[in-house]
Amino acid sequence: MRKTFQIAIDGPVAAGKGTVSRLLAQRLGFLYVDTGAMYRATALLALRHEIDLNDEDKVVALLEKSKLEMRNPLPPKELDGRLTTVILDGEDVSWAIRTQKCGIGASKVAVLSKLRQTLVKKQQEIASTQDVVMEGRDITFRVLPDADLKIFLTANLQARAARRHTQYLTKGMNITIEAVTSEIKERDTRDMQRKIDPLRIVPDAWVLDTSELKIEEVVDLIADKVQKIRNQNTNE
Ligand code: DC
Repeated sequence: MRKTFQIAIDGPVAAGKGTVSRLLAQRLGFLYVDTGAMYRATALLALRHEIDLNDEDKVVALLEKSKLEMRNPLPPKELDGRLTTVILDGEDVSWAIRTQKCGIGASKVAVLSKLRQTLVKKQQEIASTQDVVMEGRDITFRVLPDADLKIFLTANLQARAARRHTQYLTKGMNITIEAVTSEIKERDTRDMQRKIDPLRIVPDAWVLDTSELKIEEVVDLIADKVQKIRNQNTNE
């Protein structure tokens, strides 16, 4: 019997999955696993080695030769606003993977089926040993289909574009809201139309629209639900 508690969260670009998952994991004492960071780190690797992002065998071989580690940020040095710490071959790339180029690259390598198999296996191994809040695009139906709680976190395009725009401005990037909106649309299309494991809503997922909610309200709602599930499990 599985002993870990698994919260699986899927949703489109900039729906607030990262911030909500990080705060929720912190509150519950779980590990936060940002699976998008794994696709981003793979894109960074491929870009740095000047490998074609469509070349499945080369991208997978490169990833397998590398060491990718993820952990909750360690105080004090890593508490610099990041949600998760990503170490690639000993180098802290937590910020390097957050560029627009890596985001677009990630959505390109994410269509490679062998790469997805490799990363899904890593993600399942992590969730089998620790309680997790794991977020991405295929967690509720591919990575953790038996999760204790499945959530599809979403928000309207306007709210998502505004949030992502603020994030970019905070990082000092000079970009218009129109450019951010079109980037989001492009990535949504790629995530929802890819042949393998396109982003979708599973029938037993709780669809949470965060457009009109504050982050803390979303975290409270989910934490309440987790408590109910735990009470139910104890009474069974
Ligand atoms: O969540 P994010 O923006 O960091 O994700 C980057 C890209 O990675 C996104 O365009 C889709 C892809 N991705 C995926 O296909 N499956 C996941 N489980 C997580 C991310």
